[in-house]
Amino acid sequence: MPSPQDRRTFAIISHPDAGKTTLTEKLLLFGGAIHLAGEVKARGAARRARSDWMKIEQQRGISVTSSVMTFEREGITFNLLDTPGHEDFSEDTYRTLTAVDSAVMVIDVAKGIESQTRKLFEVCRLRNVPIITFVNKVDREGREVFDILDEVANLLALDVTPMTWPVGMGGNFEGIYDLATHRLLLPEGNSREFQGKVVQTSGLDDPQLDAILSADNLAKLREEVELAGVGYPEFDAEAYRHGDLTPVYFGSALKEFGVDSLIEALASFAPPPRPQPAEPAPVEPSHDEVTGFVFKVQANMDPNHRDRIAFMRLVSGTFKRGMKLTPSGHGKPIAIHSPILFFARERELADEAFPGDIIGIPNHGTLRVGDTLSERADVRFTGLPNFAPEILRRVQLKDPTKTKQLRKALDDMAEEGVTQVFYPEIGSNWIIGVVGQLQLEVLLSRLDAEYKVAAGLEPAPFETARWVSAEDPKDLEEFTSLNRGAMARDRDGNPVFLAKSAWEVGYIADRYARVKFAATRER
Ligand code: G4P
Repeated sequence: MPSPQDRRTFAIISHPDAGKTTLTEKLLLFGGAIHLAGEVKARGAARRARSDWMKIEQQRGISVTSSVMTFEREGITFNLLDTPGHEDFSEDTYRTLTAVDSAVMVIDVAKGIESQTRKLFEVCRLRNVPIITFVNKVDREGREVFDILDEVANLLALDVTPMTWPVGMGGNFEGIYDLATHRLLLPEGNSREFQGKVVQTSGLDDPQLDAILSADNLAKLREEVELAGVGYPEFDAEAYRHGDLTPVYFGSALKEFGVDSLIEALASFAPPPRPQPAEPAPVEPSHDEVTGFVFKVQANMDPNHRDRIAFMRLVSGTFKRGMKLTPSGHGKPIAIHSPILFFARERELADEAFPGDIIGIPNHGTLRVGDTLSERADVRFTGLPNFAPEILRRVQLKDPTKTKQLRKALDDMAEEGVTQVFYPEIGSNWIIGVVGQLQLEVLLSRLDAEYKVAAGLEPAPFETARWVSAEDPKDLEEFTSLNRGAMARDRDGNPVFLAKSAWEVGYIADRYARVKFAATRER
């Protein structure tokens, strides 16, 4: 009987190009989920070809959609939630991070911590998501090991513990030394890949090392490891799980170095499913009742069915196919007859799923991002944010007879979390809000391809938006009536104040002390 203890649900966070795709392929390969490396990209390409709107992905060479990959090793089931890596398209990524228990942070050894890595790290920190660091591409010239370790420590304010150490780098690269097991992983053949050649040593003084490694590299390794022993704290699993310390592994995803150690680290240290924040009380994975929340909705995964897939993270209970679950806010239970587990190679029908697993639920728009699903409907998960948009645009319809289709399209996409939509109290110019430019392109492309609506975007007289609320409804009423020209409703009918600038938000907030202005809205 699978137990929550055997599940590891995690994501990889990185800056584009650091090697996330390559590492993902290798994790799946080592984890025995797929038989050929290179399949992640191939699968991506096949998927892209299937759907028109995904042209953008192709043109830009990025992945706008997330997916879930599952692999098993030595009795542990790993659920890897893919996150789009592009800098512009992060709302989706943020939400995905609410559904994981831990993360792997991939850094390019030559580049260190880059902007996107840092942003994603901050999201993890908000939720105390523990991080394992993988410093990639040591088969290339890179920065000094101490330089990288100190950068992680200083920029992210984390304790770091090196777990492995590269022996040389680039043309000089001779392998990876494991500080805990004293094993040395060695490259083989012309490609200098790791093909399983391991030397067990008794420690850095072992004379075997003198025979294998060049004198310069060995001297450097001995000196550096000794210094590191003094300079960095020992690994502390508790500190890691609290998000205060990150164990650091060096490797080369391309040459397959360090991937095995990373899987072992996930198995040994990464937390199994954690309790999730909820009202009235956090839900433990050991709770009997089936509960979960939708962190993502995706349309058009299968061109033969114009359906949507809601991605639900199971929080507690044993889910069984055909089970009836009630979505929060709707009241009516739905029977889930064809749930999907996302295995690496294809979509498979799931009969059972356990806490930490992700289930795809086909539906026609009933399920929304942020929904809680449960057997008894007396719980609601919290903390799935909508972010205040940073770019607002007015939607211009080219053919006025298509108003209905446009409204449906905007509602659909708001529901999927692609863009947000605001319906102003005065006037009929609908406004859409996004946190990144790329979302605008996705919107226009999908309006055209899926809804056959030709539309353009023009600058809106507003720059940002805040959700407004007040303890006393009279305060909100008064605020609304005095600022009607700047008031709108979001997709769910919540009142939103559209502001000309961030400065205006501050100014207005000062004047209306009894009204709350929120930059995120939890659903
Ligand atoms: P991403 O998903 O984080 O954006 O990165 P991806 O894995 O696509 O890797 C970006 C580039 O870095 C790729 O090269 C990839 O082959 C290379 N790479 C990844 N890991 C390593 C590594 O450990 N060592 C070395 N030397 N290179 C690595 P590319 O030429 O841009 O793409 P491709 O044509 O090889 O696919």
